[in-house]
Amino acid sequence: MHRTEFLDRFMDDVRAGLSASPKHLSPEYFYDALGSHLFEAICQLPWYPLTRAERALLERHAEEIVAPFGEGTSIVELGCGCGEKLALLAAPLCKRIPRLGVHLVDVSETALDLSRRTLGRLPRVETSAHRARYEEGLALATARRTPGAGDGGAVLVLFLGSNIGNLDPEAAAAFLATLRASLRPGDGLLLGADLVKPAADLALAYDDPLGVTAAFNKNLLARINRELGGTFDLRSFDHRAAWNAQSARVEMHLVSRRRQAVRVGALGIEFAFEEGESIWTESSYKYEPDGVVRMGERAGFRCFKQWIEPNGRFSTTLLLAEERAAGR
Ligand code: AVI
Repeated sequence: MHRTEFLDRFMDDVRAGLSASPKHLSPEYFYDALGSHLFEAICQLPWYPLTRAERALLERHAEEIVAPFGEGTSIVELGCGCGEKLALLAAPLCKRIPRLGVHLVDVSETALDLSRRTLGRLPRVETSAHRARYEEGLALATARRTPGAGDGGAVLVLFLGSNIGNLDPEAAAAFLATLRASLRPGDGLLLGADLVKPAADLALAYDDPLGVTAAFNKNLLARINRELGGTFDLRSFDHRAAWNAQSARVEMHLVSRRRQAVRVGALGIEFAFEEGESIWTESSYKYEPDGVVRMGERAGFRCFKQWIEPNGRFSTTLLLAEERAAGR
């Protein structure tokens, strides 16, 4: 994706989101260079177990997870972070196949750089980086399937870190259906999903005592200031995270401390805020294990196996693309 294309979309989304009622902004824009580093810091926090729980599952079960895949396999990671989890899965595969194609897909240049470096340590891995949104990146990657048996090897798509949780249920279902449409029978989707846990644990995970998550959330406003000439006073917005049990999601907001007007220069618009008015910046849905399996099945996958972290905090599910029934 080109910088101008990205900026046009960013401006359109900020214009629409801040003009709406209630106001909202997409969490996709958290991840500029600073936001990506703040997210890496969140993953180190003792109160945010998600990343550690998933890593422990992958460390323990990597061989079993990649067992159905052989020569000619390529791995595509959507939202690659720092590439560490991909490397855990690639390591046992590249011990037994002569060459492994890896495609990194992310909108963040920082994430792509970090991942390229991590994978550079593995032998026989050929890495391509795509600065793109998920669907576009997946299309680029599947078009370059590694030649293997027949007309190309299998593709294993990784959608980890509970990135699925940042999509609402309809968007998640539509996204999985889009993924399925670009895969062939026997291709795989490894889906990492955070599980429902006690409200107090979720409150700490999304409003940590060090204020790192607050900084991550407020960086969205700082980014609008930096890139779109915004005049947000960061001190006049509070970070708020709330567990909505009925919808099984943590909602993150930025709440205006006072009545104020904020100008976004690139848009030539001034946005008015009431005291207490919020911008909804993220939803983080939490799943039950069988909910993940059902969601995969509805999209045309079958569950090969699901692994649950011993404390029941996180699930990793290997879904295989099914042969589609005629007319489906
Ligand atoms: C990337 N995503 C799965 C994270 C989450 O937990 O929803 C982003 C995040 N937001 C606040 N902390 C971390």
